[in-house]
Amino acid sequence: MSKIIVIGASGQIGSDLTLELRNRFGNENVIASDIKNAADDVMSSGPFEPIDVMDENRVLEVIKKYDISQVYLLAAMLSGSAEKNPKKAWDLNMKSLLSLLDMTKEGTIKKLFWPSSIAVFGPTTPKHDTPQTSVMEPSTVYGISKLAGERWCEYYFRKYRADVRSVRYPGLISYKTEAGGGTTDYAVEIFYEAIKSSKYECFLTENTALPMMFMPDAIRGTIDLMEADPAKVKIRSSYNLSGISFNPRELADEIKKHIPEFTISYKPDFRQQIAESWPESINDADARADWGWHHEYDLAAMTDVMLKEIRAKLK
Ligand code: SER
Repeated sequence: MSKIIVIGASGQIGSDLTLELRNRFGNENVIASDIKNAADDVMSSGPFEPIDVMDENRVLEVIKKYDISQVYLLAAMLSGSAEKNPKKAWDLNMKSLLSLLDMTKEGTIKKLFWPSSIAVFGPTTPKHDTPQTSVMEPSTVYGISKLAGERWCEYYFRKYRADVRSVRYPGLISYKTEAGGGTTDYAVEIFYEAIKSSKYECFLTENTALPMMFMPDAIRGTIDLMEADPAKVKIRSSYNLSGISFNPRELADEIKKHIPEFTISYKPDFRQQIAESWPESINDADARADWGWHHEYDLAAMTDVMLKEIRAKLK
C-alpha cells in the first residue's frame, strides 16, 4: 500500500480528510502532519509528525521516513488573514507548493493534491455560473497566490509530467474543525452562535451570495479526484467545483426552521469587499464530465447535520 501524508492535518479540511483517508486506506498508511497538534481523533488514530511546511528538509525527511508516495498539501493562509499579512501569505502559499512540485517532478513523490479556491476569480469575472475558463483578475493576495499556484501546477504537469491535481474549493462548511481567517467562515460561525445564544452578527451583508459546500462532499470529491485514472484528469490547473450557493439571509432562514427564536444582524467588515469580488455560483461541468464529480448536500440537508453535530459537540 502506498503511503499518504496530509500536510495541514490540524486545519479545517485536513482534519476531516485525514480521518476519511485512514478509514479508506488504513490508519498506518496515512500520516498526519502540521505545525501544531491536530484534533484528538486525528492524533490518536494514526501517525502524526510535527512539520513546518516552510522547512523543506523536514518535509523531505518525513516523506523519506515513511516512503510516502502521495501528498495532500493543505497548509495555507486564507483570504482574510492574507490581507493582513500579504508577504507572509505569499511566501507560505507559494514556497510550500513549489517545493512539493519539485519533489513530484523528481519522482520523490508520485502524486500531489493542492487546493485552489474560488478566490482565483475577481471583480471582472462573470459572477453567475462562472465558467472553468474565464477572466481571472483576483484582487486579494490569497487569490493571487492561488492563481499563480494553478499556473505552476499546470506548468509542472505539461513540462515535467508531474502528477498534480487540484480543485477550486468554494467556502467549506464543517463541524469538526473551525476554519480560520477566511471570508466564508461566517457560514460555520453562525451555527455555533445559533446554538449558543440564538443570535449572530454577520460580517457580510444579507444578500452576499457565495459558492459553498458541505465538507463531506468536498472530502469525497478530493479523494475521487486523487483516485481517478490520470487520463481522466484533463485539467491540470484546477477544477471548478460547485455545491450550494446561498447568502447569509437564506442560511439564517434555514436555521430558523430549527431554532425559531434565532436572529441575525449584519455588520460588514473588510471581508465584505473580498466577498463582493468573488463569484456567486460556479459552473463545474468539466469536473462532472471528466471524473464524475457530483455534490450530494443541499442547504437543508447540510443545516440539519450541522445543527445536530454541533449540539452534540457542545454538550
Ligand atoms: N474559504 C476561503 C476563504 O474564505 C476561500 O477559499 O478564504
